[in-house]
Amino acid sequence: MNILIIGSGGREHAFAWKITQSKNCTQLFVAPGNAGTAKIAQNLPIAVSDFTKIAEAVKEHNIQMVIVGPEDPLVKGIVDFFRKDKSLKKIKIVGPDAAGAQLEGSKDFSKNFMQKYGIPTAASQTFTKDTLQEGLAYLAQQSLPIVLKADGLAAGKGVIIAETHEEARQSLHEMLAEAKFGDASSKVLVEQYLNGIELSVFVLTDGKNYKILPEAKDYKRIGDGDKGLNTGGMGAVSPVPFADEAFLSKVEEKVVKPTLTGLQAEGIKYVGFIFVGLMNVQGEPYVIEYNARMGDPETEVVLPRIKTDMVKLMKATAEGKLDKIKLAVHAKAAIATVVVAKGYPEDYRKGDIMVIPKPQKDTILFHAGTRLAERDIVLTNGGRVIVSVAMARTLNSARQKSQRLAKNIIFDGKYFRKDIGKDLLKYLKGEKEDI
Ligand code: AMP
Ligand code: GLY
Repeated sequence: MNILIIGSGGREHAFAWKITQSKNCTQLFVAPGNAGTAKIAQNLPIAVSDFTKIAEAVKEHNIQMVIVGPEDPLVKGIVDFFRKDKSLKKIKIVGPDAAGAQLEGSKDFSKNFMQKYGIPTAASQTFTKDTLQEGLAYLAQQSLPIVLKADGLAAGKGVIIAETHEEARQSLHEMLAEAKFGDASSKVLVEQYLNGIELSVFVLTDGKNYKILPEAKDYKRIGDGDKGLNTGGMGAVSPVPFADEAFLSKVEEKVVKPTLTGLQAEGIKYVGFIFVGLMNVQGEPYVIEYNARMGDPETEVVLPRIKTDMVKLMKATAEGKLDKIKLAVHAKAAIATVVVAKGYPEDYRKGDIMVIPKPQKDTILFHAGTRLAERDIVLTNGGRVIVSVAMARTLNSARQKSQRLAKNIIFDGKYFRKDIGKDLLKYLKGEKEDI
């Protein structure tokens, strides 16, 4: 079948890489894609939320299945758009409709949902501009640190962890009275701080059946040792050594099952990925957030660990037949190191010429912010530029390979974290840190 992937990041290159390994894919398209996807698929110059152009391309190229990478088109209702149109209704589409995507699109919705269905999460209260004074009074009663979250999509910037009451008051005021994140902060959640270790679990569901994909840990801060500004993600590791069988089975029983039951009870037919951001608090899982899509760079370590044919998996999801599929996973560890442009996550440079080494065995380069110029020259075209992924029997060896490959990429102002996965070695007997 002909398939279209929507998006342009490392996540979408990883999807494209995995899908082109399947003999069930005839032609693959990526909209808009990057220099990496251009090498293995046909890029279509269409923005991710231009539904009309996407629909035209689907018809023109006889595309039978669409996989939606980022949250924006999902929250804006790309699935509803396809379902409402007679000529597009039959297209298989992997991603939730706008109702399902609220799990990510509105933190107030997802908090109410978790409370209603008994899913463990931090206690919280929601405030609006009209209840700002109550919010300020509420803040004064809370112990520190305290977490403030803009309700809507804020490009990963809508969460503030305030260390002092003064900072909390100021942030709440900025978000509600000064619309710091525009409409996204017209409601703000004030949430109890959870002290624990973070990890993410990914669920693929067809609305009835589900598969739990390999878990991953992300590294959000720009600097080594988790210092500095928040980013979209500077690296990822899978599997996560502290997520043992006992913990993952708690996640399945206390989080995954009630989430899917809750969606059904709400009349939401959720088809696609649910990314569950979790805090492990002394062995107990608490949900920090849901995303209605896969993570980036988590996808770059999760997909290489999946052995199952990706087209079969996606098709079964869209057709409600996930119960007919067996999910097979490699035991190997995978590590992704994200190589970024100078200045990221603030203003960064674009348009630098890249020299990209040939990956060796068990290593892969997933492009993120890259663009193909004339004569096959690859230019930087985003903050997160390229992702160096390695797989190995041990986490430490995957770390070394991923770091080595990242070092060998050349462009002006290149930066990457040197410590991805290093904090996890202490959970592994016999694996010593040697870089
Ligand atoms: P989010 O945008 O919801 O992923 O939040 C960004 C980051 O803030 C998360 O990855 C966590 O590290 C942190 N965070 C969010 N909520 C909490 C919480 N209740 N307690 C502690 N940390 C949190
Ligand atoms: N890496 C975090 C995210 O995709 O939201």
